[in-house]
Amino acid sequence: MAEHSTEEKNGYLKTWVTLHPGEKVSLCRCFKSKKFPLCDGTHKLEGTHGPVSIQVTPCEEDKKQTD
Ligand code: FES
Repeated sequence: MAEHSTEEKNGYLKTWVTLHPGEKVSLCRCFKSKKFPLCDGTHKLEGTHGPVSIQVTPCEEDKKQTD
């Protein structure tokens, strides 16, 4: 499952999202999500920007390890 953490550095919040091969995540771009940085669908009610969806495609080595 995707993991995320947020830290403050030089007065700015910086969020890290870690994905594993085969995982997919939708990241919030409207800043209204209660699950930020993950999209919870709130953009449909009051936002103008939908999420950005990212998927990590497993490489051949990853596929061999799971076979
Ligand atoms: S809740 Fe912000 S983009 Fe979906």
